[in-house]
Amino acid sequence: MEYRQLGASDLKVSGIGFGGWGIGGAPFWNNEGDFASARALLKSVDLGINFFDTAPVYGFGHSERLIGKTLKPVRDRVILATKCGLRWTREEIGSVRRNGKKSSILEEVEASLKRLETDRIDLYQVHWPDPDTPQEETMEALVKLQEQGKIRFVGVSNYDVEQMKACLKKGTLVSLQPEYSLLQRSIEKEIVPFCLEKQIGIIPYSPLASGVLTGKYDKNTKFDDWRSKGILGTFTGEGYVKNVEKVERLKKIAAAMDKTCGQTAINWVLRQPGIATALVGVKNEKQMEENVKATGWEPEPEFQEQIEEIFAPATSAA
Ligand SMILES: NC(=O)c1ccc[n+]([C@@H]2O[C@H](COP(=O)([O-])OP(=O)(O)OC[C@H]3O[C@@H](n4cnc5c(N)ncnc54)[C@H](OP(=O)(O)O)[C@@H]3O)[C@@H](O)[C@H]2O)c1
Repeated sequence: MEYRQLGASDLKVSGIGFGGWGIGGAPFWNNEGDFASARALLKSVDLGINFFDTAPVYGFGHSERLIGKTLKPVRDRVILATKCGLRWTREEIGSVRRNGKKSSILEEVEASLKRLETDRIDLYQVHWPDPDTPQEETMEALVKLQEQGKIRFVGVSNYDVEQMKACLKKGTLVSLQPEYSLLQRSIEKEIVPFCLEKQIGIIPYSPLASGVLTGKYDKNTKFDDWRSKGILGTFTGEGYVKNVEKVERLKKIAAAMDKTCGQTAINWVLRQPGIATALVGVKNEKQMEENVKATGWEPEPEFQEQIEEIFAPATSAA
């Protein structure tokens, strides 16, 4: 496993990070149960993964609880990253609301510390920017938590450049967690250069486009979890069919390199500028065993060109 510096922090994170959304289970994902999830977590530690990302909303507390309990014996060897800023009134997707108010964040952190069975969160990230709260207020809460020693470093997720600039007026951001994969490259134009300039480490989420880049789905696949709900990503309609066609072409390149399609997709993300750790979601230990083999190699230039030809973002006519 390779390790990389996370932005301006002193954290050295593994190139592959564990994405804890799927193991939270319902109502977002179907998974293989807590036993398989716990085994996947422990196998990840054995494979050299030290970065574990979760959020209160993942399974409405379940992902944090499972990670806290399972990783407690190795707490000092792992970096725990969780989030704040999404609240819910019922355990239903439709009741989730953004809330970046200082009072809400100061309350949320206590619940996360308890669920994670720890006295400090290594990286605390705002999950989504709250349009009804000034970013400066949210940041003030995070800086206060840092001063109290409850969190070590501050990051944000799904923020644009202006929102990050507002945060930087009040404190230091060490990371940004955006969606980023061969199929979703919108951060490349403005966000990546800004992060490079400000030493903000990029933690791409959904590097497999939530499974699509593994090549295991086809254009007739009908998802019965959150992917059918139009929350994030492209899992229905013409856009989905076009993506699957691209993935079919990637599969052939991967086979020619003797890699899987998913390994090739994760490997691509890791070779892009500013990337600290690619957050991969897994359902069992086998998936992680396969995914860690995405590190430590580079495609021959001819394959890199072929990949770029398929997935280069369309340039708008000026
Ligand atoms: N900050 C945010 O707003 C945000 C949003 C989304 C995600 N995230 C973070 O990013 C993490 C990863 O995102 P993600 O779960 O959406 O997507 P992902 O990592 O792109 O894809 C995960 C899915 O790919 C499949 N998969 C993974 N490895 C596989 C393998 N070796 N063989 C076959 N299938 C494999 C599994 O699908 P099956 O379920 O079909 O087995 C898994 O659920 C999340 O867990 C979370 O920590 C953050």
